[in-house]
Amino acid sequence: MKILLVYYTGTYNTRFLTDMLEKALRAEGHAVCRVEIRRGVPAADTDGYDMIGFGYPVYGFNSPLPFNRYVAKLPVAEGQKFFIYKNSGETFAMNNASSRILLRRMRRRKAVFAGEYHYVMPYNIHFPFARDFVREILDKDKKLLRIMLRHLQEGTVSSIPSNPVYNFASAAVSVQKIGGAVNSFFYRADDKKCTRCGLCVKACPEQNIRLQGGKIRFGHRCDMCMRCSFFCPRNAIRIGFLEGWKVNGDYRLQELEEAGPPPKPYITEESRGFYRCFVRHFAAIDEEYARLFGDERD
Ligand SMILES: Cc1cc2nc3c(=O)[nH]c(=O)nc-3n(C[C@H](O)[C@H](O)[C@H](O)COP(=O)(O)O)c2cc1C
Ligand code: SF4
Ligand code: SF4
Repeated sequence: MKILLVYYTGTYNTRFLTDMLEKALRAEGHAVCRVEIRRGVPAADTDGYDMIGFGYPVYGFNSPLPFNRYVAKLPVAEGQKFFIYKNSGETFAMNNASSRILLRRMRRRKAVFAGEYHYVMPYNIHFPFARDFVREILDKDKKLLRIMLRHLQEGTVSSIPSNPVYNFASAAVSVQKIGGAVNSFFYRADDKKCTRCGLCVKACPEQNIRLQGGKIRFGHRCDMCMRCSFFCPRNAIRIGFLEGWKVNGDYRLQELEEAGPPPKPYITEESRGFYRCFVRHFAAIDEEYARLFGDERD
């Protein structure tokens, strides 16, 4: 098959998943092209592709605004097959509604839904995940990826059911619409910490940061992707009213993926509080993996 992967990423978790996906697809003999959405990237020509894969990180129980804007201008033919590989830091049921805008757009164009898959990835906001937890997450992601490829090959359509309550609630908390614009007035780089290395200026997918008069300045078209503050080597960027939820520092996903799963399971039947939501999610992945592949590892 000829497959087009269209994805948005803030702190590169979705890019990491896309790299894994592209590698796995190529290993199975498929031809793959990919488009990473950022300011100024033109709509891809989707003609001739057997399938389009849409990847995005969940933002406030929704797909990111730049992703929605891009999909709105993407030409998609009637009968075009597509699948979704989204990711987020937790698996609360509200996340189930996050693809509603994308699904609506694809329905209008009479595209054919081939499946939706929810990957867990470490939080880039709220609080940092422990390394062993990330190792476990990446192990489950690799399994889910293999499941997804088998489903797509066999034509098994796996959907993530939402309902009107989640849909309404997810629309109501669509934080980015006003959040990004308002919050951008409060972004600051601390002059005492900042070394003017220029990393944030180069990295911002919205070209919203500039070095002017020896100082880092922020514009007002921030999409709250967190890339600048997450990767700032001096942790110098203050992110307005989200400062208390800032996560700074690369997880070094490649290293953790190569390290394999943690010595003992991080999520167990006894996991409580925030971690409770992963118990069923991970168990469902293990169950489907065992059904499709037995005890075989990838
Ligand atoms: C503005 C914003 C809102 C987010 N909202 C959610 C959310 O509603 N649910 C969730 O599980 N994770 C949420 N996250 C976490 C990201 O979905 C998660 O860390 C993701 O892996 C980031 O992917 P990326 O590195 O490709 O941007 C949010 C992150 C940001 C920056
Ligand atoms: S990445 Fe951090 S240290 Fe580098 S210029 Fe930006 S704010 Fe300053
Ligand atoms: S200013 Fe920072 S958070 Fe906003 S879009 Fe640019 S990199 Fe992302």
